[in-house]
Amino acid sequence: MTKKSNTKSPWGGRFKESTDDWMIRFSASIFFDRRLYAYDIAGSIAHCKTLVKAKIIKPGESKKIISGLQQILKEFEQGKFKVKESLEDIHMNIEQRLIQIAGPVGGKLHTARSRNDQVALDIRLYLRDEVDAVQKGIRQLVKVLIQLARQHVETIIPGYTHMQRAQPILLAHHLLAYVEMLARDRSRFEDAKKRINVMPLGSAALAGTNFPIDRKHTAKLLGFQEITHNSLDAVSDRDFAVEFCSASALLMMHLSRFCEDIVLWSTSEFGFLELSDQFTTGSSIMPQKKNPDAAELVRGKTGRVYGNLMSLLAMLKSLPLAYNKDLQEDKEPLFDTVETVKGSLAVFHGMLKTARFKKIPLKRLAEEGFLTATDLADYLVMQNVPFREAHEITGKTVAHCIATHRHLDQLPLAELQKISPRFKKDVYDFISIPKSVQRKNVYGGTAKKRVQEQILRLSKIWK
Ligand code: ARG
Repeated sequence: MTKKSNTKSPWGGRFKESTDDWMIRFSASIFFDRRLYAYDIAGSIAHCKTLVKAKIIKPGESKKIISGLQQILKEFEQGKFKVKESLEDIHMNIEQRLIQIAGPVGGKLHTARSRNDQVALDIRLYLRDEVDAVQKGIRQLVKVLIQLARQHVETIIPGYTHMQRAQPILLAHHLLAYVEMLARDRSRFEDAKKRINVMPLGSAALAGTNFPIDRKHTAKLLGFQEITHNSLDAVSDRDFAVEFCSASALLMMHLSRFCEDIVLWSTSEFGFLELSDQFTTGSSIMPQKKNPDAAELVRGKTGRVYGNLMSLLAMLKSLPLAYNKDLQEDKEPLFDTVETVKGSLAVFHGMLKTARFKKIPLKRLAEEGFLTATDLADYLVMQNVPFREAHEITGKTVAHCIATHRHLDQLPLAELQKISPRFKKDVYDFISIPKSVQRKNVYGGTAKKRVQEQILRLSKIWK
């Protein structure tokens, strides 16, 4: 037999026995939803004013309630508020304390309201702020990327497909590819915010309320443009949280891919960049090590953000209308997503800002991987050779280079002409690495001019 707790629940009227201790622990959300305290109080103050407007409570009563709520806010901020597990959640903890402070009049605050619409409001208020914080993090990161791109419109790196050296590109072009992804992330969060930013209070438990409250007034006080249109939907809906987690999963996926580049680039094998001491760690045994932990952790944490999205979707999939206690399980995945995404953006920003990108000597670029083989084929196409044939001739040229341990630009013209008489002196211009980059002059290509054009466009967008 488990011990019985003595605290009486606010809903205890119909109950003869007290709640089992295990049950109290199991159903309590206070240890994680306490972080909603400021939103819960802001929502309650607005609700209280709406009750006055509807003449449900008197101005004098509302004064007592509001000053009580303000005192509670202070208690939280000063770390003095003592939460009680037996009071289940943040809403009941605050209400009970209010009654302690303001007396029985505190019990009037919950008129025309249920915890079901109250919690929906709190999460929306919370997420509305957090989505802005995430947007700020994205913006900060993008600004560093554009800044780095400006500094590297002449730094050439090998571009890869299948993780094999493919064609030369500008480092700036590579960095701006991530800016494109982050711009789409930003627009997804912006879009999600439209659906987060809707006011549910007044839906009460599920059916709406008997009291003639002006819901639009509450919305206005809390800075919402819109109110929910169906009380059942309003207390059951967590789509907005799923959308936030889905946008977060995509954002983390982008960051994680970038992390993979960074982990590779910082190896001695690649040697494209060096991370700062601030965002790396050492090994407890190998003194020479400087590990890219920041990048690895962001990559690793991407998994839990995906997991949080799955938790929410699975939690919601079989819920009949309207409120079900399962919905209380929305908070931990949501809070964890918010914290993980904000932390990842901040660390990523710092890691990039303090990283040192190295110029790769042209000689090294030319030595490995035949980066301009495609240019050689294109050269032949411009001499009117059909592309397939040009591809074949170039393949043979590369094979000849491999067999004789040389790079493309080390083959004398006579040898090239033995493979195809179409090769003329100007071929060397085509296989020069900087010229190969310069010739990718199509809109969206890696030519310096095109990249600068994008830097200009993006700097205007991300002012
Ligand atoms: N702590 C609850 C939650 O997070 C609040 C709503 C409880 N409503 C109820 N009818 N038990 O979802």
